[in-house]
Amino acid sequence: MKNKKIKIIAVMSVLLMLLISGCNKSNDTESSLSTDESSVSSSSSVKQPAVKAFAKAHSTEVIDGVTYVDGILIVNKTYSLPKSYNYGLTDETLKAFNKMKNAAAKDNIYLEIASGFRSYEEQEALYNEYKSENGQKKADTYSARPGHSEHQSGMAIDVNGADFSMVGQKDMKWLGKHCAEYGFIIRFPKNKESITGYSYEPWHIRYVGKKTAKEIKKQGICLEEYLGVTSKYNPQ
Ligand code: DAL
Ligand code: ZN
Repeated sequence: MKNKKIKIIAVMSVLLMLLISGCNKSNDTESSLSTDESSVSSSSSVKQPAVKAFAKAHSTEVIDGVTYVDGILIVNKTYSLPKSYNYGLTDETLKAFNKMKNAAAKDNIYLEIASGFRSYEEQEALYNEYKSENGQKKADTYSARPGHSEHQSGMAIDVNGADFSMVGQKDMKWLGKHCAEYGFIIRFPKNKESITGYSYEPWHIRYVGKKTAKEIKKQGICLEEYLGVTSKYNPQ
């Protein structure tokens, strides 16, 4: 009888220990999960909401009035180029374009430079023309103010024209599909108007190098998102 009692106590003790260690395990899992979710640790017992750190740190440099983010030249509504930035299309841009043009021709797609480099003055004349035709508000949705056009950087090309009727044409489709393989991005993508500040332009490509172009395409983002910058004019 005494032995039976001891046995029962021993079994119950083992069960109790198992129960306690089980509880500790689930606590461990919970604490490691909350660490993974980057919950803000606090000495208080109140649990803080999980905050995910998505923001990527970027390095910005301004050299002779030209802004580079992570080494990539940026020109948009926020960032301008000096009036004197006047170097034509860069060799890399032209070389990459010609490579792409040859590849496209093999697919019976013909790509030409409709507009490459544009000086500050050329952009000024173009923008003023659009502004007097359609008003500043409308012009700002499709044409850059002088000093703010990527064409002045020598790394942007309008392929086969710059006309909204080109949207959906087969040459534009080819460009969207293949330009990253040659280091270009579609600079003003569809559905990114509120970020780039411009309407969708399937013809306007920007040279950023193959690695960056492929990454931007893969992520389905625009250059502003990739570099963590805005594109907005200063209120005047
Ligand atoms: N069409 C583009 C936004 C430019 O004028 O540079
Ligand atoms: Zn353009």
